[in-house]
Formats: sequence, C-alpha cells, structure tokens
Amino acid sequence: MKELYFENIAGNKQVIKDAIIDLESSEEVLMIRSGLNILDLAGWHDFLNSHPRLCEDRRHFNFENSLSLADWWEISYQPALASSYAYSKTRQPMHCDNAWFDDGAEINFFAMKRQAASGGEQSIYPLSRLLEDLSNLEPSLLNDLLTVPVKIKKGDGEYQHLTTILKDGDLIKCYWQFYRTEKKDLLVAKMCEYFFRFLQAQEATSSVYRVSCNTGDCMAFNDSLVLHGREAFEANEPFDRVLFQSMWKIKDDDLK
Ligand SMILES: [Fe+2]
Repeated sequence: MKELYFENIAGNKQVIKDAIIDLESSEEVLMIRSGLNILDLAGWHDFLNSHPRLCEDRRHFNFENSLSLADWWEISYQPALASSYAYSKTRQPMHCDNAWFDDGAEINFFAMKRQAASGGEQSIYPLSRLLEDLSNLEPSLLNDLLTVPVKIKKGDGEYQHLTTILKDGDLIKCYWQFYRTEKKDLLVAKMCEYFFRFLQAQEATSSVYRVSCNTGDCMAFNDSLVLHGREAFEANEPFDRVLFQSMWKIKDDDLK
C-alpha cells in the first residue's frame, strides 16, 4: 500500500494525480490519509476531473438495480436496505465493482465519510498473488477462469460483459462478480461456486491483506487488478458507516 498524507492540496496536486495514473498498471492500493480534510467530495470530483487523462464514469446502479448517473454514490449502513451489501454491515466477499461493463472504469476512488466504530476494513487480494495461488493450489480452476466465457450483467441487461473471469492481455485482468455472473450453464455455475469458495478460503491466508480506511481517508485502486471486499462492522444506527465511491477511466497517453 502506498500512503500519502498532506496538510493541504496546494503544491501536492501533481503528486496525487501521478499516483492515481500509476494505478493504471499497478496492484497497489493508494491511501490518501485525511483526504477529505484537504478537499470535500465536490472538490475531489473537480480535482480528478481536471486531469487530462482521467474521465469520470458516472454510471451507477441504484438499490433497484436501475441505472442512474452520479458524481458519487453512497455505500452506507441502512438496516431497511440491508438485503444489499451496499447497505448491510456484513462481510462482503471479494469482487470487482465494474465487472458488468465491457468498458468499465479502471480506477475506483473511495472517500470514507464515516468509518464504523470497529471493523469495516477492506480486504485486498492483488491479482498477481491470486494467480500465483491458483497456479499452486488450483491449476485446473485457473485454466477454467482463463478460458471459459461468462456473461456478467446488472440491471436490465443494457450493460453486460462477455468475457472470461481472468482475461489475458498486456496485463491479466479480473472481472469477478459472483452474484451478477449468469449461471445457466452448469460448467459456468460450478466454476463460479468453486472460485467463490476458493476466494473465501483465501481470505484467511496471508495472500489477502486488510486496509483500514479511517474517517476522512480517501483510497484508490485499479478495479480489475485488485479484488476487494469488506469486513463486517459494528453499527447500531443507520449511517454509522458511510463510504462514497466514484469511478474514473484512464484515457490513453496520446490523448494528453
Ligand atoms: Fe465493491
């Protein structure tokens, strides 16, 4: 994890922007401690949007699974909506956030408005560690994940992603959303169940590390080079934990 801490934004803009662009090909988690003290949510949005290589992706599925557009979306403890991980206080299994888009944003930017009294850490599984673990422990599953096509979709199907869960290219990338992957095909269903259980077991190993995002902290990571999840947390009242999230595409260098 790379940590930055600044008293103010002045003089540090380029360092922050460069660190975010570096995530294009990095499994690092970038933590900007007390980031909400130097800029508020609107300020961070404007700051990121002003970068010539960052482009906002405002597509967001709300609680009803319909697409809405927003600068930020809220992940908060709300008992009345707790059937969704976004509003529950339970552990959230590891996943990618943009797996159902075939043109999903690379950068996932979090701003922790209010962390829970205890728990709520992010679990992080860098893809290189995952590939190494699969190669050592489950080579057959690794082969399936690289070769079996799946369909990942959310909402009314306007956006869907036909892909393999691990996709080979300049970099191997991961597109994993267990609950949104179509499982009509028995082979796909078995593979998904097996991978889901594998990831759950791996959470208890040193391959998966935890990041504590405190109230006011911001963090960013590459959504397809890092699997992320969340530990259960203590919450008694609605909004005892509130996280805001935004997504950013990285434009090609030659578009500078
Ligand atoms: Fe997520």
